[in-house]
Amino acid sequence: MNETLKTLKERRSIRQYKNEQITDEQLNLILEAGTYAPTGMGQQSPIMVVVQDEKTIKELSKMNAEVIGTDTDPFYGAPTVVVVLADRGCIPTYVEDGSLVMGNLMNAAHAVGVDSCWIHRAKEVFESERGQELLKEWGIKGDYVGVGNCVLGYRDCEYPQAEARKENYIVRV
Ligand SMILES: Cc1cc2nc3c(=O)[nH]c(=O)nc-3n(C[C@H](O)[C@H](O)[C@H](O)COP(=O)(O)O)c2cc1C
Repeated sequence: MNETLKTLKERRSIRQYKNEQITDEQLNLILEAGTYAPTGMGQQSPIMVVVQDEKTIKELSKMNAEVIGTDTDPFYGAPTVVVVLADRGCIPTYVEDGSLVMGNLMNAAHAVGVDSCWIHRAKEVFESERGQELLKEWGIKGDYVGVGNCVLGYRDCEYPQAEARKENYIVRV
């Protein structure tokens, strides 16, 4: 099968990670793929914030967990979190733009041997007072909205099977 199509079909969400960090080479390839996602009118409204510092990951994890009222780690122990935000002031398609970046990150990760998962609630986390403060600390100016967190790492579990695709997924008229 064509390698690209194989990657798209085989990528799965991973929910248990080893402590081991991914390589910079892998990370850079994944991030570069993110920057090549299509964006509305080519405006490149998203940005990707790479977090590998344990303390910050813990804080983001706690903030994320608080949104849904749990005390488990929503990042599943992943050693890298890429927060995708998009500039609301840039173009009305900012959420779609950020979502396509997330897709590129996850598929590129699989292509280079890294596991990933979209972890939601970036919107709520970065709307909060502490979230806004973090954006300031990171030097991010503009009307940025959280789209998703792409966690990256090496899995510490069996590789999951894809669910069967639903009937009538495709409508040909
Ligand atoms: C918009 C979106 C939000 C998601 N949020 C979460 C999440 O917060 N936590 C999680 O474990 N998985 C999350 N996922 C992953 C989905 O649960 C996963 O993609 C789905 O179950 C299909 O599995 P697969 O990715 O292995 O094909 C999210 C996926 C998408 C597209």
